Amino acid sequence: QKLTIIGAPIEEGAGRLGALMGPAALRTAGLVRTLEEFGHPVEDRGDLQLPPVLPVVPAVDGLAHHIERIAAWSRMLSSETYDAMTKGTFPITLGGDHSLSMGSVSGVARYCEEHGRELFVLWLDAHSDFNTPATSPSGNMHGMSAALLCGEPGLEGVFGEEPRGFVKPENLHLFGIRSIDATERVLLRERGIDVVDMRRIDEFGVAKLMRRIIERVQKANGILHVSFDVDFIDPSLAPGVGTTVPGGATFREAHLVMELLHDSGVVGSLDVVELNPFLDERGRSALLLVDLVASLFGRQIFDKPNLADQSA
Ligand code: ARG
Ligand code: MN
Ligand code: MN
Ligand code: MN
Repeated sequence: QKLTIIGAPIEEGAGRLGALMGPAALRTAGLVRTLEEFGHPVEDRGDLQLPPVLPVVPAVDGLAHHIERIAAWSRMLSSETYDAMTKGTFPITLGGDHSLSMGSVSGVARYCEEHGRELFVLWLDAHSDFNTPATSPSGNMHGMSAALLCGEPGLEGVFGEEPRGFVKPENLHLFGIRSIDATERVLLRERGIDVVDMRRIDEFGVAKLMRRIIERVQKANGILHVSFDVDFIDPSLAPGVGTTVPGGATFREAHLVMELLHDSGVVGSLDVVELNPFLDERGRSALLLVDLVASLFGRQIFDKPNLADQSA
């Protein structure tokens, strides 16, 4: 399948600067070359730039730092991923902080709505990113993207009258979570969001938990968007991120998630977000991410286990 790479050098959604260098670091680490090695024709749209005149976004109740710029990015990225899907390609949006998913996922959701396909979202992250301007302790919009996509109030101005899509709260699967703000927790419970936290991963393992999600998507003949926040991975392996939380996914857990996703055939779009090269160590986080993307696109160690064969 043809892949469309969309560079989104955005950092205003995070509390620390540097994520705008993420797309460059992923390219330096060999992302495009690696994808081509797996036989995928790649169209690289390069790194997008904001138009000089930003949209006028109404003021919000609560805190939402840099909402004008994030609105401009969201509108632009939404139309980019929508176009990529419409052309039958697989959009890969490179960040940039996690606020970019407001745009990238919105475009994918809009495509799915128009084509009668059920959209599911796998949010690989240490954080649940389900704050609104009213609940956010920081006002950083990268902590609000999942909430915006599910239509939570307070962020209507991001898209204004521009076309957008939504994610059904019951189709959002947060995975790898280990940091939730108190007010965010209340909202997650009220909406009944599926939160696969690290405790559950410890007890049941990623394979079982992932298969449950994949089967849901397959039964609905749906499309799965994967939003990969670098801090999903343990900071000892991927230090290049502004919001590290200990106790994250191990090297093999992260690869196994990607391998299972590849075999499932249900993934239709991807974000790779929050890489902050300023905080990285000799490119190791960027290199790990490229290897994980390779697993998502078919790199295998040897062969897949035969699930029918219990002696495996
Ligand atoms: N929950 C915190 C906040 O709202 C941290 C969010 C971190 N999000 C991220 N995409 N790294 O400020
Ligand atoms: Mn700021
Ligand atoms: Mn995130
Ligand atoms: Mn995070």
